[in-house]
Amino acid sequence: MSKLNNDKLKITSEPLELPEQTSKFPSTRFMGSKEKLINHIWSVASQFEFETVLDLFSGSGVVSYMFKTQNKQVFSNDYMAFSANITKALVENNNVTLTEEDIEGILNESTPTDKFVSETFNEIYFNDEDNKFIDMVRANLKLLEDETKKSLVLAALVRACLKKRPRGIFTYTGLRYDDGRRDLKLTLREQFLEAVKAVNEAVFDNGKENKSYNGDSLTVEKHADLVYIDPPYYSPLSDNEYVRRYHFVEGIVRDWQGVEMQWNTKTKKFKSYPTPFKNLQGTYEAFDKIFEYHRNSILIVSYSSNSLPDKEEMVAIMKKYKKNVEVVSVDYKYSFGNQGHKVGDNKNKVEEYLFVGY
Ligand SMILES: C[S@@+](CC[C@H](N)C(=O)[O-])C[C@H]1O[C@@H](n2cnc3c(N)ncnc32)[C@H](O)[C@@H]1O
Repeated sequence: MSKLNNDKLKITSEPLELPEQTSKFPSTRFMGSKEKLINHIWSVASQFEFETVLDLFSGSGVVSYMFKTQNKQVFSNDYMAFSANITKALVENNNVTLTEEDIEGILNESTPTDKFVSETFNEIYFNDEDNKFIDMVRANLKLLEDETKKSLVLAALVRACLKKRPRGIFTYTGLRYDDGRRDLKLTLREQFLEAVKAVNEAVFDNGKENKSYNGDSLTVEKHADLVYIDPPYYSPLSDNEYVRRYHFVEGIVRDWQGVEMQWNTKTKKFKSYPTPFKNLQGTYEAFDKIFEYHRNSILIVSYSSNSLPDKEEMVAIMKKYKKNVEVVSVDYKYSFGNQGHKVGDNKNKVEEYLFVGY
């Protein structure tokens, strides 16, 4: 797992092309998704010799999937069950897809349901028909025995919910931001059937035993030749809370088991899971611990120029454990389209860094 040659790391502004299969990943608007950066990440990673990759904060799953298409053995991890479910369905799973009979079973309207979504989230995110549909899928899922098939159905249901939800998040109630887009007009059933197709088409075999984990990045006991680290970005100016944004789809995947419901909230969310990335001190310590635990691996960290630790601090933490540390900067503009900023305004320019330790 050394570098392929002894030259300095190439700071490529020319991202590498990726195989056709990579574009089959059914992406959604997941906060912090690196969908637009996977070519850059591969440009950097491909300069090393490695067989196994650990994606410690897999989120949407798009980076894990990219590494899978490069025929690496991929270990994915995220502390949210709905993220881990996506990689179970599309990274760990090499050959199972949903058949028409499976879908018929999932759409069986005569199975009694617990009405949990219809009753708990009445008029909160989706209309009655859509809520009933979710409850029906949940009920029929319990009758499906194959765990991989379950993960495919859940991945499709989650995708349908995220697509039908304006802005793809569950931090507000009602149908604000409904701009009449096709995605919002389709029923959840229609969205689900499209999602099943997209998910099925994304399944492929890279000949490796890939594995999806659902744990805390600081305690997951797994090593790999290369570790990709993309935690929530900490900034005192913005909130980086994932569970709060995605609690509804997280609830679907966990079937609301083992969560602490906050019944008095308008959104009917549940208590977020503890994570060190909620405050500055915790964030510094977490990076230190993660780098120490994975000190024998090639490390690639995604982080942005408007977050803490800053560039110099991050390099210093990494230098404690790695001989060579380099920073690749990817020019990247976040869109602030409806916040009154002018395009080209310097304040909009956030640099995405890849910190590479080897
Ligand atoms: C920036 S996102 C990752 C995005 C991902 N690379 C992608 O391209 O979609 C950060 C992720 O870290 C997860 N996370 C937050 N704290 C965590 C922890 N302590 N352990 C594991 N995952 C955590 C969140 O659930 C979220 O999915």
